[in-house]
Amino acid sequence: MHTDVSEVLFTEQAVQDRIRELGAQITRDYEGKNPLIIGILKGATLFMSDLVKRIEIPVELDFMAVSSYGHSSESSGVVRIIKDLEQSIEGRDVIIVEDIIDTGLTLIYLKNLLQQRKAASVKLVTLLDKPDRHKVDITADYLGFTVPDHFIVGFGLDYAERYRNLPYIGVLKPEVYQS
Ligand code: PRP
Ligand code: MN
Ligand code: MG
Repeated sequence: MHTDVSEVLFTEQAVQDRIRELGAQITRDYEGKNPLIIGILKGATLFMSDLVKRIEIPVELDFMAVSSYGHSSESSGVVRIIKDLEQSIEGRDVIIVEDIIDTGLTLIYLKNLLQQRKAASVKLVTLLDKPDRHKVDITADYLGFTVPDHFIVGFGLDYAERYRNLPYIGVLKPEVYQS
């Protein structure tokens, strides 16, 4: 375990087992379709990469990068698109992939945007959800794990761009971000 981590919430094995289940669920639900899977940079990349390997139907991949204005540790709800999709999504079945729903402001914005662009359907898959922090009414269609309101890192989740590469999900020691 990394010395800055106080507790492992989900081991590498637990994460991979859950991803396998989510992949099987998506495979069943999208049988006969060709969904466009959209990863939200950068946090979603590790989860997305493992998830799509467990989906056994044809899929296409794309990415978006967004940034919220305002204080860096708190979403403001105003989302700016840094990198947009490379294609039209009109008529497509879209699956947005996130690492975590915190306030929910990023995902609610993106879901509305992609619906306005006339996607046939827009579903949300997130590895983690922190319901205590939600500021909007949002529910993932596919959820890995619910987490408590702690500073969580690993498997794509960062603190100041670090710890994304941990293969498990853990709680960051307070002294790391309080110093
Ligand atoms: C994090 C996380 C989600 C978003 C969730 O991304 O990866 O994308 O915040 O927050 P919300 O529910 O309050 O909107 P971040 O903006 O830190 O960028 P990153 O993915 O590059 O780390
Ligand atoms: Mn993110
Ligand atoms: Mg981040």
